[in-house]
Amino acid sequence: MALSLSNFLYAIALLTTLASANTVTYDWDIGWTRANPDGLAERPVMGINGQWPLPLLNVTKGDRIIVNLNNKLGNQSTSMHFHGMFQNGTNEMDGPVGVTQCDVPPGSSFKLNFTIDQPGTYWYHSHTRGQYPDGLRGQLVIHDPENPYRGQFDAEVPLTLSDWYHDEMPGLLSSFVSYKNPTGAEPVPNSALMNDTQNLTLPVEPGRTYFFRLTNIGAFAGQYFWIEGHTMKIIEVDGVYTEPAEASMIYVTAAQRYGFLVTMKDYSATNFAMMGSMDTDLFDVVPSTLNYNVTGWLMYDDAAPQPAAAILDEFEPLDDFSLVPQDGMEFAFFNDITYTTPVVPTLYSALTTGANASDVTVYGDYTNAYVLEKDQIVEIILNNDDGGKHPFHLHGHNFQAVYRGPDNDGHYNPANMTDFPAIPMRRDTLMVRPSANFVIRFKADNPGIWFFHCHIDWHLATGLAATMIEAPLEMQKTLSIPDDHLAVCAQGGVPVAGNAAGKTIDVLDLKGQNRSVKPLPAGFTAKGIVALVFSCASAFLGMAVIAWYGAMPLSSKELAAAKRFVAKHGGVRE
Ligand SMILES: *[C@@H]1O[C@H](CO)[C@@H](O)[C@H](O)[C@H]1NC(C)=O
Ligand SMILES: *[C@@H]1O[C@H](CO)[C@@H](O)[C@H](O)[C@H]1NC(C)=O
Ligand SMILES: *[C@@H]1O[C@H](CO)[C@@H](O)[C@H](O)[C@H]1NC(C)=O
Ligand SMILES: *[C@@H]1O[C@H](CO)[C@@H](O)[C@H](O)[C@H]1NC(C)=O
Ligand SMILES: *[C@@H]1O[C@H](CO)[C@@H](O)[C@H](O)[C@H]1NC(C)=O
Ligand SMILES: *[C@@H]1O[C@H](CO)[C@@H](O)[C@H](O)[C@H]1NC(C)=O
Ligand SMILES: *[C@@H]1O[C@H](CO)[C@@H](O)[C@H](O)[C@H]1NC(C)=O
Ligand SMILES: *[C@@H]1O[C@H](CO)[C@@H](O)[C@H](O)[C@H]1NC(C)=O
Ligand SMILES: *[C@@H]1O[C@H](CO)[C@@H](O)[C@H](O)[C@H]1NC(C)=O
Ligand SMILES: *[C@@H]1O[C@H](CO)[C@@H](O)[C@H](O)[C@H]1NC(C)=O
Repeated sequence: MALSLSNFLYAIALLTTLASANTVTYDWDIGWTRANPDGLAERPVMGINGQWPLPLLNVTKGDRIIVNLNNKLGNQSTSMHFHGMFQNGTNEMDGPVGVTQCDVPPGSSFKLNFTIDQPGTYWYHSHTRGQYPDGLRGQLVIHDPENPYRGQFDAEVPLTLSDWYHDEMPGLLSSFVSYKNPTGAEPVPNSALMNDTQNLTLPVEPGRTYFFRLTNIGAFAGQYFWIEGHTMKIIEVDGVYTEPAEASMIYVTAAQRYGFLVTMKDYSATNFAMMGSMDTDLFDVVPSTLNYNVTGWLMYDDAAPQPAAAILDEFEPLDDFSLVPQDGMEFAFFNDITYTTPVVPTLYSALTTGANASDVTVYGDYTNAYVLEKDQIVEIILNNDDGGKHPFHLHGHNFQAVYRGPDNDGHYNPANMTDFPAIPMRRDTLMVRPSANFVIRFKADNPGIWFFHCHIDWHLATGLAATMIEAPLEMQKTLSIPDDHLAVCAQGGVPVAGNAAGKTIDVLDLKGQNRSVKPLPAGFTAKGIVALVFSCASAFLGMAVIAWYGAMPLSSKELAAAKRFVAKHGGVRE
């Protein structure tokens, strides 16, 4: 039978597509090694195959990634999350412990297997409680053969910023959540790092344009970033291409990424400082010995000196809210509970509770769970009653940022908001300002359990998180859990079926569920409150009030008040 020309061309096209998609396999032994990136204190760090800093991963859009992860730490469990990946159809590969999988105990192995269909600048890190600041975080770049800005740059420059602690996380966490720290002051980092070092030199050639891919892989501190004498042209945020936007300074919260082009001068006899400066507003105290700045240099001339950066009196970063996604995606129309890891990882509850998986009760009282229907447009209003800044990250999606209040804006007031951007900025991590609010929207088109949390690791470890249960009945049809994932649960003694309390018969009975920490001793003040209000094009979903750190379970009075609120606002809200 003769193959028609169009079929033949189709077959060729298919072959070409297939040929470009590779499988990239990483065999990783996660183990301890030692490092001294700020030159002040050598310390144990978590490395991969004996290496630290962790390897830069550079794959191509369409590739399949296989990670064979062997936990060789000996004394801690671990996990791995590829930050920003939609994991569309592979929710079980997302990484957060207690949400989509169990912790991988020492001596155990775990396989990640997923494809990458999105370009841009990302990172990967442990998603085990409070672990990645001990070094288990690295940069991931997804090369895009169809980058709309291809041809406009000569080379890529991957770059990271980070805060750095000399002490290990388990000790820092226990002194953080302690009666000796009644105000909830987060541990202040010891140093700022650029590419896991300081005094970095980047050889540059006059007249060339470099595509910088900058990621803040830190635990806590946002950083201001600027390059003296040069302008940044922003073309990507968190994997979303933007219309070009010029900036002389940007602010990068923990977990955010920026892609920008920098064109070198045609001639220069001097070198230029490239600066990161940790946002000290976040610190309760700034020790006099702390150098919260980190310097690197664009090196035009190796023989020339490395000039100290000029001292700035004020930081004036670009407002990321003003960025416009290049794809022109338009505006989408449409409880004092501390997150506590459930007994059964939430994904496993969704897959093993049958039709009850649509009942939010199944997920327990301490996971801030919201059941979303497939393809709903979901709006999250986040009201920050705390005086600090918080970078919030949603797994499995990027979201439209439709409003962000200025400092002290108070609670979002829908009544006086009419002016939303026509093409709102889209990203996966967004900062809410002190005592202010933001409003984000996304379409629930990715069945799975997606964590929504503050990316300051101190706040996540103390429960500033919520769980989106997206189309659970759909998940039951499309997702399955690999045997090796179930095996690590068995090794860790974690049940893999039933509701948040591990009940498989009466899945609405939560007796035995994990609860948030007991009230702390007298004098202890909860650090802050963040309230989430969710709504959809079709229905109001309810609200959660998350008080983290110090965080006590809801009193029966508070619980009743929250329920009344939901009942009152439970009607239709277009
Ligand atoms: C970087 O340079 C500064 C200033 O000379 C110095 O204090 C610091 O120790 C250097 N950092 C490293 C990691 O060598
Ligand atoms: C930062 O580190 C990565 C990975 O080690 C390396 O590929 C890159 O060139 C470094 N960036 C700079 C500016 O030196
Ligand atoms: C685990 O072992 C490392 C490396 O020996 C050590 O630095 C660390 O303190 C240990 N951590 C715990 C929690 O025991
Ligand atoms: C990864 O997943 C794909 C799709 O399910 C499967 O065909 C393949 O065998 C898996 N690869 C490995 C190494 O497990
Ligand atoms: C990643 O690899 C591609 C080639 O596949 C290369 O063009 C690009 O410069 C690399 N990016 C980084 C950040 O190393
Ligand atoms: C860090 O840099 C900023 C901006 O130039 C400056 O205001 C500040 O004094 C510097 N701090 C230290 C400790 O050097
Ligand atoms: C919740 O339950 C699991 C066992 O399934 C346990 O390992 C974990 O420590 C508990 N977490 C909390 C915060 O109580
Ligand atoms: C919204 O309305 C409130 C009360 O009516 C007012 O205090 C506030 O300034 C308004 N906010 C904006 C952004 O217009
Ligand atoms: C997930 O895949 C479905 C089906 O291909 C698609 O409609 C949806 O937009 C995707 N969602 C995300 C967040 O990638
Ligand atoms: C939901 O759970 C309850 C209590 O366990 C059970 O009686 C009921 O049959 C379940 N409903 C469905 C639809 O599975």
